[in-house]
Amino acid sequence: MKYEVFATYDQMCRRAANLISAQIILKEDAVVGLATGSTPLGIYNTLADWYAKSDLDFSRVRTVNLDEYCGLPFEDPQSYHYFMQTNLFSKINIKPSNTHLPNGLAPDIREECKRYDALINSLGGIDIQLLGIGHNGHIGFNEPSDTFSKDTTHIQLTEDTIRANSRFFKSPSDVPRSALTMGMRSIMCSRKIILVANGKEKEEIIHQAMEGPITPRLPASILQLHPDTTVLFTIE
Ligand code: GLP
Repeated sequence: MKYEVFATYDQMCRRAANLISAQIILKEDAVVGLATGSTPLGIYNTLADWYAKSDLDFSRVRTVNLDEYCGLPFEDPQSYHYFMQTNLFSKINIKPSNTHLPNGLAPDIREECKRYDALINSLGGIDIQLLGIGHNGHIGFNEPSDTFSKDTTHIQLTEDTIRANSRFFKSPSDVPRSALTMGMRSIMCSRKIILVANGKEKEEIIHQAMEGPITPRLPASILQLHPDTTVLFTIE
């Protein structure tokens, strides 16, 4: 794992945006794995800026998101569909039919998980995957557990995650209790991975993920086995 530390959040975002745009310039129809949470926001702003300056073209890019809450309509401001639409897709020339997220409202959740894995396979896998990290070491919504989940899964969120994500909702009771998340196989098969983290409170978990034992109790630790992962970190 490569590790880069930045003096400012802005610098970290520019570096992540650079890595993503290099991939898109190299392969116009790249499959880009996207993440939500507060950390990627500056990266999406930077990519949108570069698009506005005609430095980037998303017309052939395909995207797959890591996860989505169960039970939130797409137009709910806390849904990840809404997040992606507002913070990135509406600002660039990506085709809506080339953007993909798991559907947390699917009537048959098991079928939806299978559909999502089949979709990622049909796109030829992920060229570059952006990841954040939860305070408990989760990536996507792959929560600490006894085993790593290989496939897209319906996951019960831990109390830690519900508490951490309640800052985006009116009250903790509004946070959905479950979500769909891309599994470790699709993440680990991504040809390149960038993990971004911001803040003193993420420092210890990043350190454990990079240096500690590889265990499903700290899902991000599996990235130690990936051949091309870059961790970008800042405390600002
Ligand atoms: C959510 C997302 C994760 C993300 C995490 C960290 O739980 N499902 O993919 O990594 O938030 O968010 P933040 O960047 O706001 O700390």
